[in-house]
Amino acid sequence: MGGAALRTFLVALLGVLAAAPAAGADSSIPHLRRQGTATQLVVDGKPFLIRGGELGNSTASNPAYLQPFWARFTELNMNTVLAPVYWDLIEPEEGRFDFSTLDELVAQARDNRMRLVLLWFGSWKNSMSCYAPAWVKRDPQRFARATDLDGTRQEILSPFSAENRDADARAFAAVQKHLREVDGATHTVLMIQVENEIGMIPTARDHSAGADRAFAAAVPAELTGYLAAHRDELAPELRATWLGAGGKAGGTWSDVFGSGPAGEEIFMAWHFARYTEAVAAAGKREHALPMFVNAALIRPGHQPGQYPSAGPLPHLVDVWRAAAPSIDFLAPDIYFQNFAEWARRYRRSGNPLFVPEALRSPEASVNALYAFGAHAAIGFSPFGIESIGETAARLLAASYGLVAQLEPLILAGQGKGTMAGLLSEGSEQRQPQQVRLGGYVLAVAFERGAPPSLADGVVAPAGPAAGPPPPSGGLVLATGPDEFVIAGTALTVTFAPSVPGKRAGILSAEEGRLVAGRWENVRWLSGDETHQGRHVRLEPGRFSMQRVRLYLY
Ligand code: DGJ
Repeated sequence: MGGAALRTFLVALLGVLAAAPAAGADSSIPHLRRQGTATQLVVDGKPFLIRGGELGNSTASNPAYLQPFWARFTELNMNTVLAPVYWDLIEPEEGRFDFSTLDELVAQARDNRMRLVLLWFGSWKNSMSCYAPAWVKRDPQRFARATDLDGTRQEILSPFSAENRDADARAFAAVQKHLREVDGATHTVLMIQVENEIGMIPTARDHSAGADRAFAAAVPAELTGYLAAHRDELAPELRATWLGAGGKAGGTWSDVFGSGPAGEEIFMAWHFARYTEAVAAAGKREHALPMFVNAALIRPGHQPGQYPSAGPLPHLVDVWRAAAPSIDFLAPDIYFQNFAEWARRYRRSGNPLFVPEALRSPEASVNALYAFGAHAAIGFSPFGIESIGETAARLLAASYGLVAQLEPLILAGQGKGTMAGLLSEGSEQRQPQQVRLGGYVLAVAFERGAPPSLADGVVAPAGPAAGPPPPSGGLVLATGPDEFVIAGTALTVTFAPSVPGKRAGILSAEEGRLVAGRWENVRWLSGDETHQGRHVRLEPGRFSMQRVRLYLY
C-alpha cells in the first residue's frame, strides 16, 4: 500500500472507530429539517449550530501549514472550520485523484474535535477559474472560456460548455465518494459549499459562441413555468424585470426579460445554476450532504458586469431555486457594515441563513449573536479566521462562548417566534430597536459611546487614542411567562406590556451562565445595575447574559 493509500485507509479506519456510536446514537448523514419557520442542520440526530471560521484560501493546501492553528480555533470557542478542497490539488492529472490533503484535513479536524464544512473550489472561485487543474487551463479548445464582447477569452470557464461541467462534476463526485468512504460513519464533514462566489465579470454575460447560441434560444419551460407558478412571491427585482418586459409566458431571453443588463444577468444566473446543479447532483449521488452556494454581495450603484453578476444573490433566488434543486440554500458572504439588512434579504423568501464568510472585525461577535437570534441561523463564520486580530478574537470567543451555553435554548426556540436578534442598523438609527416578544415590547438601545476600558477585561485602553467603540448587540429569548434571557454586550433594554394599560416592572434581574442547559447565578442585579429597576443593562466591552423576570403594575 502506498503512502497516500495508507493514509486514506487510516482516516477511514479511525473514522469508523471514532464513530463507534453510543447505543441509540443517530447514524444518519447530516441533513436539514424544518422546525416551525426555521431550517435546522441535524448532525448525529441532533440539531447543530455552526460556530465557524473560514480559513484563508491557501491555509488548507498544506497540512503542515494548517496544523498550528487548531489550538487557536479551540480558544475561539469554534466548533467548525470551513476549508477549501482544491480541484487542482485533488486531480493533478485527469482521472488520477490524490486525496491526501483532504484526508489530513479531516484527520486534523478530528484530532481537535472540530467539524468541517468543505468548500469545493472547482470551476469557479470569485468568478475566476484559478483552481481548475493545469490540464483544464491549458486546453481552452476542449474547456471553453467565457469571452467578453470583443471575443477576448477570460480566465473563467464558460458555463455553456458540457466538457467543463462534466469534468467538474466527475471530480466533485470523486470527492464525495471519497468522503462517503472516509467519513460516512463519522460525520466530521457537515455540509458542502459548491464552487465559490460564482459570478460573471467584466461583462454582464458571457459572449462565447455557446453563450450566444443559448441567448438566442427560448427560455426553458422550467423557468417560465416557475415564474408563472410563483408570480406573486417572486423576488421583487426579478418580478419587475419580467413584468416590465411584458410578463410573457415564453420567448427568447430578450423577449422575456428585455435586452438590458438585468435580463442578461438572469440568463447567466440560469446557466450558472444549471451547471452547478449538475455538479451538486453528481456529488449528492455519492454522498448526500447538505449543499449550498455562496455569493459576493453587490456594492451600491453597481450594475451587472461591474460586480460578479448572476451569482446566488437575493434578487436571483428564484432563478437559482428553479434551476438548482440540489442546492439546499443560498448563502451571503457579508463583508459590509449593513449586516442586518443583508441577512434579512437572504431570509426574505424562506431561505435559511448561513453566513460562510463575514468580516473578522470586532463586529463579528455581535453579528453572530444577531444571526442566531433574529434569523435562526444555521451558522456564522468570519473569513480568514487564522488571521483574526487580538481584539476581534477576544470578542468572538466570548460571543461564541455564549452561543455554546445557550445552544439548547436557541435550538429549542428556532422557528417558533420566541427569539430575537439585537443589532443596530447603523449610525442613522435614532430610536431604540423595538422587539415584540412574549407579550412585551422591548426597547433596545445600543451603547456605542464608551470605549472599552482595561477594567472590563478588554485590550484597548480608554481615551481618545482607544480607537472605535466596542461593538453592541446580542440576542434575547423568551424563556417563560414574563421571563427573558438576554445575551450580548453594550445594550440597555426597557420593557412595556404589548397591551397598553399597565406598566412593566423588573421583578428580578440576575447575571448568570448556563451549564449543560441549567441556569447558574453569577450575581443578583439591582440598584445601580438596573438603574433602580428601570432597565436591564449589559455593559459595553464584555459579553454577558442576564435572566430577567417582569411583572405588571
Ligand atoms: C471572498 C471569497 O469568497 C474568499 O475566498 C476570499 O477571496 C475573500 N473574499 C477575501 O476577502
